[in-house]
Amino acid sequence: MQRLTVTDCRLLDRAERVDIAVDAGVITGITPTESRPARSGPTIDAAGALVTPPYVEPHIHLDTALTAGQPRWNVSGTLWEGIERWAERKALLTREDVLARAEEVLRWQVAHGVLHVRSHCDVTDPELTALHALVELRERVRDVLDLQIVAFPQEGIVSFDDGERLMERAVAAGVDVLGAIPHFEDTREDGVRSLEIAFELAARHGLLVDVHCDEIDDEQSRFVEVVATLARRTGLGGRVTASHTTAMGSYNGAYSRKLRRIVARSGINLVCNPMVNLTLQGRFDDYPKRRGLTQVKEMLAAGVNVAFGHDDVMDPWFPLGTADPIQVAHAGILAAQLSGQDEIDEAFAMVGERAARVLDLGEGYGLAVGRPANFLVLPADSPFDVLRRQVRPTHVISRGRVVAETPATPTRLTWPGRAPEDVDFARR
Ligand code: FE2
Repeated sequence: MQRLTVTDCRLLDRAERVDIAVDAGVITGITPTESRPARSGPTIDAAGALVTPPYVEPHIHLDTALTAGQPRWNVSGTLWEGIERWAERKALLTREDVLARAEEVLRWQVAHGVLHVRSHCDVTDPELTALHALVELRERVRDVLDLQIVAFPQEGIVSFDDGERLMERAVAAGVDVLGAIPHFEDTREDGVRSLEIAFELAARHGLLVDVHCDEIDDEQSRFVEVVATLARRTGLGGRVTASHTTAMGSYNGAYSRKLRRIVARSGINLVCNPMVNLTLQGRFDDYPKRRGLTQVKEMLAAGVNVAFGHDDVMDPWFPLGTADPIQVAHAGILAAQLSGQDEIDEAFAMVGERAARVLDLGEGYGLAVGRPANFLVLPADSPFDVLRRQVRPTHVISRGRVVAETPATPTRLTWPGRAPEDVDFARR
């Protein structure tokens, strides 16, 4: 039976150091290191390092990843030119092309400690080439990570030829989540209708909902209220997510106050993608230039579950990225002004436990006896420390096996009046 023991671990919710015992891919014991029982088999000495559940990526586009500049660069930097550039690249898709790019990014994610991924996949393609490739990949990587696939109608459901039928075909092909893009539909009414279609399909097939919602600097774009209301009326509640929601950065105070109540009451999740939306939004503004982000601080204060996502990785909308959730959370702290100590801890949860709620992982996530042995050894003493120094996990453990190792290598510094010494930027 496959066995692993990780000793001298610092947990977020326990004062004393603990040993974690793993057998056959499941956590079978969490016991104080002081009372360490003798145990055979492979052992990792965490030496007081922080051990946490894995990171969760609540919003990425694996089908478009690693296509920046193909066939042309997005020169204006707008979301809209990105959609045009992608439409050109989409015509060139093959199964092998999608598999190779998506798998490469998944490998980066696991190296960073991400073991649960929700990927959107453009289904406004009569061939559904990318979707079939991602469904195939979901099975191939199942022993290492969980992949959820969203049917994402990039060019609309109602305003795109045969859009509704393509969503039905995506369900038949095996998606986990239904998407929509109401602000991109031709009219407000088409936007509302597109949401009704997505919710109806989700309810009929027992699937989740994740809408690209109000990703535009238009204070008139108000589809979050529709998503929240449909979530409440259908009873789907927390199984529904509104992603991006950047128009919230432009809403007036009176409407914001009203909306926070509607969203909180509905139980839906919000996903903010700070790196990409700081890059894309405000492109049509002169100065002052808007930030174009969801109301992270205010929604958290209203009791809404908000998570941070990466969104794009080297594609027509965002040229950079290594799929690192800590880089995303770091950007989120800056963008949403989460500078309080509690807020920085919250930012860590927004790429972990809060993102797990978006994916509806339930008992499949968390450090507890009986749960899958998925966790990280982080060379840091707190979430604050992880974020400030942006450290990578030394060990990523998935299903009880070490799947990624990163040596914690300090910088050797020679300084006047001192012997050469190691610097790792820690405050001791
Ligand atoms: Fe997105």
